[in-house]
Amino acid sequence: MNTVFIGDCREVLKTLPDESVQCCVTSPPYWGLRDYGVKGQIGLEKTPAEFIEKLVGVFREVKRVLRKDGTCWINMGDCYMSNPNRKMVPGLKNKDLVGQPWMLAFALRADGWYLRRDIIWHKPNAMPESVKDRPALAHEYLFLLSKSGRYYYDSEAIKEPVTGNAHSRGSGVNPKCAGWADGPGAHSTLQHAKPGGSYKGSIPGRKNGPGQDRRSTRPRQNSSFSAAVSQLVERRNKRTVWTIPTTPYPDAHFATYPSALVTPCILASTKLGDTVLDPFGGSGTTGKVALELGRKAILIELNPNYGHLIEKRTSITPGFGI
Ligand SMILES: C[S@@+](CC[C@H](N)C(=O)[O-])C[C@H]1O[C@@H](n2cnc3c(N)ncnc32)[C@H](O)[C@@H]1O
Repeated sequence: MNTVFIGDCREVLKTLPDESVQCCVTSPPYWGLRDYGVKGQIGLEKTPAEFIEKLVGVFREVKRVLRKDGTCWINMGDCYMSNPNRKMVPGLKNKDLVGQPWMLAFALRADGWYLRRDIIWHKPNAMPESVKDRPALAHEYLFLLSKSGRYYYDSEAIKEPVTGNAHSRGSGVNPKCAGWADGPGAHSTLQHAKPGGSYKGSIPGRKNGPGQDRRSTRPRQNSSFSAAVSQLVERRNKRTVWTIPTTPYPDAHFATYPSALVTPCILASTKLGDTVLDPFGGSGTTGKVALELGRKAILIELNPNYGHLIEKRTSITPGFGI
């Protein structure tokens, strides 16, 4: 059943049954970035280590409610130790990059998750930065984690078009060889050298018959082979850099991720009718995409003010959790 809980995910998750969801797609609050204005919120801890420890606790519960073949996709961005209001943290200097995405990834791996892939969410419309001593930021991370070594993953569902970098093989019978077998100047008209002398005319002892005429289609140049090859060339396995513009969300929530980031995660990790969980629901992007793709959604969000945003986007009336 589609459900939206308003409450602290650390409490609400405990009420969900073991192995009841197929996939989790979420973007937790980032350390020290925003104040969501609610008691119990994660992200305002004194140190990154404390923050990571809390998230590991949340994802331990997520792991319990995930099916054995389930997966979890976590979006996370980073920050610098440069906030003048922030107390210094042992081990981090002013201007240091915190590295919170990888701190989380390694901590989850140490807690039993399989860390399967980091994905770069490249933002082509990233905000310009006036910094003069480092490149400007234009990416965040997305991690794919699994509960078991073997898990459900539909790579076909998220194959991507081939870019201009790959050479096309066309659509005919071995079209790369077009002009190779026939016509003036074609391969068949060339004189072939043979050991011990020059060669003119037909090959001695070679008959003109199916599969033997050198002007005929070579055995591997048949249409089914070409169809398979051209398919391979047109769509390839999804790669690890996803270029997706940030999309401004007109309503009050200010940290939404784009639907286009969530769609491949759900398509690869679930079948129609499966359930997708987001313990940090925000404005409900995960729920909206899940429902559009014919999946079910369970969302948890601490801030009651975001309940109406979620309802607007998913038509699910929030219920109050713990
Ligand atoms: C980065 S936002 C998620 C945005 C969401 N992906 C979207 O597209 O709208 C993180 C959310 O986690 C919520 N949050 C913070 N601490 C929480 C907690 N303990 N339990 C549940 N939600 C919490 C915040 O209120 C915020 O809405």
